[in-house]
Amino acid sequence: MADMLVDGRRVELRDGDTVLEAARRAGARIPTLCYDPRLEPGGSCRLCLVEVEGIGWPVPSCAYPASEAMAVRTRSDALHRFRRDLLDLVLSEQPDGECPRCTQIGPCELHLLAVEYGAWGGRFSGAQSGARADDGNPFILRDYSRCIYCYRCTRVCNEVEQAHAIVPGGRGFDSRITTLLNRGLMDTSCTFCGQCINTCPTGA
Ligand code: FES
Repeated sequence: MADMLVDGRRVELRDGDTVLEAARRAGARIPTLCYDPRLEPGGSCRLCLVEVEGIGWPVPSCAYPASEAMAVRTRSDALHRFRRDLLDLVLSEQPDGECPRCTQIGPCELHLLAVEYGAWGGRFSGAQSGARADDGNPFILRDYSRCIYCYRCTRVCNEVEQAHAIVPGGRGFDSRITTLLNRGLMDTSCTFCGQCINTCPTGA
């Protein structure tokens, strides 16, 4: 049976394991934002970076295949600083004031991690992207000011629901989750299943 070391602990590998999956089985706590176990790895948020012996730079554990005799470190001062800096950057685009998801439903993944890493947006404050997009449908209000562009919503819509109703659009500060030809959701293949809301790690 192939195995690898995670923070000095041996873990048996399963077919197709990523480093993240094997490390979590070994009890490691690795932060993620763009990861959803139901989806193909997105690899965009970079919060899940870990150090692998013999590789000179951190690798995204959610997208990196685990292999025999690998030695992985999931905690170090450098990784902690790196993750906090990333969270600072993400938070710098979040609007001031209470997060509606945190106050109305329960802590969102982003703000739980912000507390854990002591991150805040003020360090990189500047331009912000996004606004609310009310297309008149009675079910879903999209708030791009809370969106972190992890694309879990578009991926779950495509890969799990196979509805292909929402797509990434725009670039930079104009990035947004939209629909083909920017139609309202009622005029798309959206079934209002709620999977996009369910997977969202913020209040977007
Ligand atoms: Fe791995 Fe986002 S969780 S890059």
